Amino acid sequence: MSKIAVLGYGTVGSGVVQVLTTNANIIKDKAGEAIEVKRVLDLRDFPGDPVENIVTHDFTDIENDDEISVVVETMGGTKPAYDFVKRSILKGKSVCTSNKALVADHGTELIRLAKEKGVHFFFEASVGGGIPILRPLSRCLVADELLSINGILNGTTNFILTKMSDEGSAYEDVLKEAQALGYAEADPTADVEGYDTCRKIAILTALAYGAQVDYEDISTEGISKITDKDISYVKKMGKVIRLLGSGRRENGKLYALVSPYIIGADNPLYSVNGVFNAISVTGNMLGEVMFYGQGAGKEATASAVVTDIVEAVKNKNIPIEIRWDEKKQIVEPLDDMKNAFFVRIEASKKDKASDIFGASEFIEGVVDGEVGFITDVMTEKDFAAKADDLGIISRIRYNG
Ligand code: HSE
Repeated sequence: MSKIAVLGYGTVGSGVVQVLTTNANIIKDKAGEAIEVKRVLDLRDFPGDPVENIVTHDFTDIENDDEISVVVETMGGTKPAYDFVKRSILKGKSVCTSNKALVADHGTELIRLAKEKGVHFFFEASVGGGIPILRPLSRCLVADELLSINGILNGTTNFILTKMSDEGSAYEDVLKEAQALGYAEADPTADVEGYDTCRKIAILTALAYGAQVDYEDISTEGISKITDKDISYVKKMGKVIRLLGSGRRENGKLYALVSPYIIGADNPLYSVNGVFNAISVTGNMLGEVMFYGQGAGKEATASAVVTDIVEAVKNKNIPIEIRWDEKKQIVEPLDDMKNAFFVRIEASKKDKASDIFGASEFIEGVVDGEVGFITDVMTEKDFAAKADDLGIISRIRYNG
């Protein structure tokens, strides 16, 4: 029997206890032994809940309990999660976490410390909710040079964009719904401004290329500026808007970006709706592989955390290498990246748009007094200069 502790009894933490209880026999079978939750750390009490009698408000109860061999961190944020996780590892306990902020900020150090202490630091649930992506990336896709990773990595924003487009729902209403369903971060700004996706693509590129990527180096744009009018244009084009996190390595240079994109039916991410996430990985031999599943939510995310717990229990004394070098990878400047853009302008500027961008086809009749057009693929720097010359209403990156 292995004894574990859960730090944080919110959406994911309570999901972990639920998965361990509901699937106790299956998990015992897979892990080779039963897994018991000995302690739950939270600021709150939970009268009437099955964990009522094992709740503690004092982390040292867990830190100093030598029977607890695995600590599950589902608190979110870095304070006090980082301190608790580090202290757990230093005490010789494996840690499994769903916390992408913790991994993006401190992954490099925590992976090293865990290795030094002969324990595990696993974080499968930190990217893509329930989708197995990190383990496949670091342990399965090892025969290829990984050319690119593109994904819908945030369930909340995908849920919002889908509902705004399919049901004409108002942004604020859908955001509230996503919060009520337990999809959104404690501060949903992290979702809608793309910060959550940014941390996830930083983790994915670090694992794909085996070295640290600073999420602060990744240019990040969220969905908060997408309007009903943008969506009307996109619907008229028969396309959808999706918030994408992308990383690509070309000639040894790493490019990464978080941004809304307009995508068409040919793109495999086109039909990824609601809270679902999908991650497409392209290898030089393998071609494209897709990982698809529920990207947020209690049970799905908890299922990924419990998979990590089983891995940690099964491999108690067996090192599992995570290739994540401390020497950080440089992310190339946004200016040098190439994209096409959907642009909205005042209708009176059509001729000027033709002169500056060579635009010949315009999308008309969506919003009074304005038109839209799509640019050729160009560098971000070129686009910014031309858009400045023309004077535009708005733009969305286009990968139709
Ligand atoms: N807030 C995150 C999302 C949770 O919506 O995807 C899962 O990481």
